[in-house]
Amino acid sequence: MAEDNRKAVGFCEFGPFSLAPVYKDQKTIMVWCLYVVPGYRNKGIGKRLLKEVDTVRKLAKLKTMRIDAHVDNAGAISLYSSLGFKKHMMQMVRCWR
Ligand SMILES: CC(C)(COP(=O)(O)OP(=O)(O)OC[C@H]1O[C@@H](n2cnc3c(N)ncnc32)[C@H](O)[C@@H]1OP(=O)(O)O)[C@@H](O)C(=O)NCCC(=O)NCCS
Repeated sequence: MAEDNRKAVGFCEFGPFSLAPVYKDQKTIMVWCLYVVPGYRNKGIGKRLLKEVDTVRKLAKLKTMRIDAHVDNAGAISLYSSLGFKKHMMQMVRCWR
């Protein structure tokens, strides 16, 4: 949780993540949700929250971190790329009307 004078201005939800058993050796921490209140964006809060997750990752001796991003979410993708994340998996969706 990121706070400004005891007001919540951003949060990050994360935890251990298991992929299919075939990946059992790839110990992973998953970031389920990252959010910064609009008036507080572009001030480094998102980056700091992810660095806190990385501290936990190191303490837990996990070797990978995963985070999903919508393909249109250029801001989030730019943030993750600046921290060294690489595009890894593609999710395909079909919609019916
Ligand atoms: C994505 C989000 C968490 C980024 O948080 P933030 O606090 O604004 O990000 P930061 O200020 O830490 O930005 C860090 C870097 O990412 C880049 N970045 C962040 N938002 C960006 C945007 N909208 N467009 C381009 N780059 C962006 C910045 O260039 C910055 O790089 P720098 O350190 O070289 O200046 C925030 O915009 C948000 O809550 N968005 C809505 C929810 C969301 O999309 N969450 C992610 C779900 S995958």
